[in-house]
Amino acid sequence: MSQSVPYHISSLWGLLSLWMLCTSSGNKCTIKRLPPANFTRYSRLTVLDGGFNTISKLEPELCQSLPLLKVLNLQHNELSQLSDKTFVFCMNLTELHLMSNSIQKIQNNPFKNQKNLIKLDLSHNGLKSTKLGTQLQLQNLQELLLSKNKIQALKSEELAFLGNSSLKKLELSSNLIKEFSPGCFHAIGQLFGLFLNNAQLGPSLIEKLCLELSNTSIQNLSLSNSQLNRISNRTLLGLKHTNLTMLDLSHNNLNMIDDDSFVWLPHLKYLFLEYNNIVHLSNHSFYGLFNVRHLNLKRSFPKQSVSLTSLPKIDDFSFQWLRCLEYLNMEDNDIPSIKRNMFTGLINLRYLSLSNSFTNLRTLKNETFSSLAHSPLLILNLTKNKISKIESDAFSWLGSLEVLDIGINEIGQELTGQEWRGLENIFEIYLSYNKYLQLTSNSFALVPSLQRLMLRRVALKNVDISPSPFHPLHDLTILDLSNNNLANINEEMLEGLEKLEVLDLQHNNLARLWKQANPGGPVHFLKGLSHLHTLNLESNGLDEIPEGVFKNLFQLKSINLALNNLNVLPQSVFDDQVSLKSLNLQKNLITSVEKKVFGPVFKNLSNLDMSFNPFDCTCESIAWFVNWINKTRTNISELSSHYLCNTPPQYHGFSVRLFDTSSCKDSAPFELLFMINTSFLLLFIFIVLLIHFEGWRISFYWNVSVHRILGFKEIDGQPEQFEYTAYIIHAYKDRDWVWEHFSSMEEEDPSIKFCLEERDFQAGVLGLEAIVNSIKRSRKIIFVITQHLLKDPLCKRFKVHHAVQQAIEQNLDSIILIFLENIPDYKLNHALCLRRGMFKSRCIFYWPVHKERIEAFHHKLVKCIQP
Ligand SMILES: *[C@@H]1O[C@H](CO)[C@@H](O)[C@H](O)[C@H]1NC(C)=O
Ligand SMILES: *[C@@H]1O[C@H](CO)[C@@H](O)[C@H](O)[C@H]1NC(C)=O
Ligand SMILES: *[C@@H]1O[C@H](CO)[C@@H](O)[C@H](O)[C@H]1NC(C)=O
Ligand SMILES: *[C@@H]1O[C@H](CO)[C@@H](O)[C@H](O)[C@H]1NC(C)=O
Ligand SMILES: *[C@@H]1O[C@H](CO)[C@@H](O)[C@H](O)[C@H]1NC(C)=O
Ligand SMILES: *[C@@H]1O[C@H](CO)[C@@H](O)[C@H](O)[C@H]1NC(C)=O
Ligand SMILES: *[C@@H]1O[C@H](CO)[C@@H](O)[C@H](O)[C@H]1NC(C)=O
Ligand SMILES: *[C@@H]1O[C@H](CO)[C@@H](O)[C@H](O)[C@H]1NC(C)=O
Ligand SMILES: *[C@@H]1O[C@H](CO)[C@@H](O)[C@H](O)[C@H]1NC(C)=O
Ligand SMILES: *[C@@H]1O[C@H](CO)[C@@H](O)[C@H](O)[C@H]1NC(C)=O
Ligand SMILES: *[C@@H]1O[C@H](CO)[C@@H](O)[C@H](O)[C@H]1NC(C)=O
Repeated sequence: MSQSVPYHISSLWGLLSLWMLCTSSGNKCTIKRLPPANFTRYSRLTVLDGGFNTISKLEPELCQSLPLLKVLNLQHNELSQLSDKTFVFCMNLTELHLMSNSIQKIQNNPFKNQKNLIKLDLSHNGLKSTKLGTQLQLQNLQELLLSKNKIQALKSEELAFLGNSSLKKLELSSNLIKEFSPGCFHAIGQLFGLFLNNAQLGPSLIEKLCLELSNTSIQNLSLSNSQLNRISNRTLLGLKHTNLTMLDLSHNNLNMIDDDSFVWLPHLKYLFLEYNNIVHLSNHSFYGLFNVRHLNLKRSFPKQSVSLTSLPKIDDFSFQWLRCLEYLNMEDNDIPSIKRNMFTGLINLRYLSLSNSFTNLRTLKNETFSSLAHSPLLILNLTKNKISKIESDAFSWLGSLEVLDIGINEIGQELTGQEWRGLENIFEIYLSYNKYLQLTSNSFALVPSLQRLMLRRVALKNVDISPSPFHPLHDLTILDLSNNNLANINEEMLEGLEKLEVLDLQHNNLARLWKQANPGGPVHFLKGLSHLHTLNLESNGLDEIPEGVFKNLFQLKSINLALNNLNVLPQSVFDDQVSLKSLNLQKNLITSVEKKVFGPVFKNLSNLDMSFNPFDCTCESIAWFVNWINKTRTNISELSSHYLCNTPPQYHGFSVRLFDTSSCKDSAPFELLFMINTSFLLLFIFIVLLIHFEGWRISFYWNVSVHRILGFKEIDGQPEQFEYTAYIIHAYKDRDWVWEHFSSMEEEDPSIKFCLEERDFQAGVLGLEAIVNSIKRSRKIIFVITQHLLKDPLCKRFKVHHAVQQAIEQNLDSIILIFLENIPDYKLNHALCLRRGMFKSRCIFYWPVHKERIEAFHHKLVKCIQP
């Protein structure tokens, strides 16, 4: 068979427009007819939905045109008559929906040919009887829906047409049934499920009903809201000879259950008793329910506020018969408290909800749950009970418990850790929404198996103690510390929680911890959380994020930083978040979205929320972002309305999306130009400054180099060539000092011969030429530098020039400076055009202040002037 394509009427508007009826208001068009000829071309149609129209007649030939039709939906139309011909060709139908038409009577056998029909919906019509035919038919029918009709009696002759059918569901709710005539259900081939909700039956009619169901194959019976206000030990007697597995008696205002009333239901597995008014459960009320797995007692007992009767009474051992019970829901009741043997005997209980169940369960004592000692309980829900204290060992009976929900109470205490003793298999503790919890280092020391810990809005105290309260929880994957106004946490708090995946820290006060100015620096409390994938830091007043705070958090998939005061983010803050899927920065103070910060993190993002930030719509701040938005597949909701420019003033209130980036395009070459220009300018300034401050050095060494390159080789003084060891240049006024010190050196070492002007030049022949010659004949030239020398005109002009010239030509070592006084370099330069920096430091001497060092001075000087 070729593939069948289901068409729905909505895709056939063009085709059907001819016979559409448009109401006077003009905008509401409905179909009146389904002309068969127009469907011939859709012969492979399997589903036809013509619901919610004004079809009042169905032409038999329609099904001829659609031989493969399986589902025909004509609900909410105006069909009133069904003849034998109506569906005669619809042999392949499995579902026929005729709900909410105005069919009041069915004559003859319109469904005779529906051998394949599985579901027939005739609810909400005006049917007065269940009779849909006069002969056996609908042998494959599984669901017959007849609710909301006007059926008053169930009679065997009116159900006889179903004699060959096995009904999983006979829906007769919301009728006016007053009578179950003998054998009515035995007329049906097999009946597995009967629904009689919202019927005014009452205890005695229900007793009759049960008797009629005797010896049928009934399994599921629903009698919700059927005025069963009392169950006696006879009411359900008729169900003795059935295999009933499900009984729904909810919403019945039921207030009395006589002892042993359920003794007839040994096969029952599901019992629904929610929303009733049971005043008293005795230790025999549930006697006989040995197979029940699932019992719902939500709002089953009277509420103080609603009824003026006293609180419900639940006797000890009431549940002792329910040996197979796995699920017990007792939510929303006003039971006084847990008695010593309340749950005794529930040896298979896995799930127990006691949410909002008790009026007086203030303190959980070590005996409170003793009646559950033999239950293999996995989940215990104790929310909304106004519990104010958990004493030590309260849960010590519940060794197999995996989930403990004790949130939304009024617990206010220090958690010593003894509260959890015995919870050896615990997986999740939900403690959120309590009064206050003061932690200690041992608070969770006895529950190392814990994987989820919820501590939202519990006025948490002492999270910053050492060792951390969480340090024993090596398997923790979810930790919720939100809404606690936490301001002090330390790097140790989450240390070692390597399996942590979800961390909720929203609505705290962590801003100070990430400030550079924080004493001791920013607190890196996320360090080492290598498996973290969801991090929530919303509403923490954060205005700074330290650079490396998300470093190594490679698994992060979602970061929420909404509702903080963030403006500038450090450049590489998200560098390790390349696989981030969701980033929320809503309602911060972000003005610019720059590539260098967001480029990497935006790469694989599926969801971004940066709405309500005061964007600065200038090229530098926003152009990259706008271009990225235009290209990305990332989901950004409310882009047009919630991403608005704040500055510059002329764009205030404009949608960021409309920012024209084309005017920014030129800025790239401009930037390059700018950069080149700046570089040149800086280089120029550098050179100018260099020349200004170090120019002398450059020109000096330039001179030296030029001379050497042009062949004025350093002569490297052969000693026999020089007549003098050194030529002494000094001021006339310093002659006494010179005489005293240099002549004494000559006396000590005969190989030394200084050229002293006063001594070695003939009187009066102090000619310039002689000076030049003498300098040339000296191996070294010694400057004796004093203030006097700086003022000596001859020195300045001539001797220095020649000395330096010779030094340049021969050897920079050949000049020796001896400072008798402290002369600053600039003065030296100003007066003599000399600088200390021109000469090797071993050729510069300072006359020692201390007399005992004069010896050493001489010694060094002699070493320096000797070849
Ligand atoms: C629908 O059928 C009518 C006659 O039955 C015919 O006149 C009309 O053209 C058909 N319309 C389409 C769209 O086939
Ligand atoms: C019912 O469908 C089958 C194919 O699934 C087809 O061969 C047969 O003719 C159809 N019956 C009718 C009465 O159209
Ligand atoms: C009753 O159903 C069986 C199989 O389901 C079928 O063989 C038999 O013909 C049916 N009887 C009538 C009268 O339809
Ligand atoms: C149901 O069947 C049992 C035996 O199979 C019989 O004793 C009892 O009378 C039957 N009850 C009804 C109401 O037919
Ligand atoms: C009877 O009710 C149970 C519980 O609601 C359901 O799982 C089961 O499918 C129902 N059986 C039938 C035949 O409808
Ligand atoms: C039903 O309860 C009455 C007393 O209320 C008792 O006499 C009778 O034996 C009980 N019947 C059954 C079947 O337990
Ligand atoms: C109940 O179930 C048993 C075993 O499954 C079966 O033998 C018996 O006939 C069933 N009773 C009724 C009334 O269907
Ligand atoms: C049921 O409670 C009554 C008193 O209310 C007591 O005499 C009886 O022993 C209890 N039976 C069981 C089985 O607990
Ligand atoms: C419960 O605690 C009390 C003291 O608070 C102690 O006397 C009693 O033995 C404890 N009971 C159990 C069952 O641990
Ligand atoms: C406990 O019951 C409350 C109220 O029905 C519900 O909201 C909560 O999810 C339940 N907790 C667990 C762990 O199922
Ligand atoms: C978005 O991209 C398309 C081409 O991919 C371009 O034509 C359009 O101008 C762009 N819009 C903006 C606002 O940059």
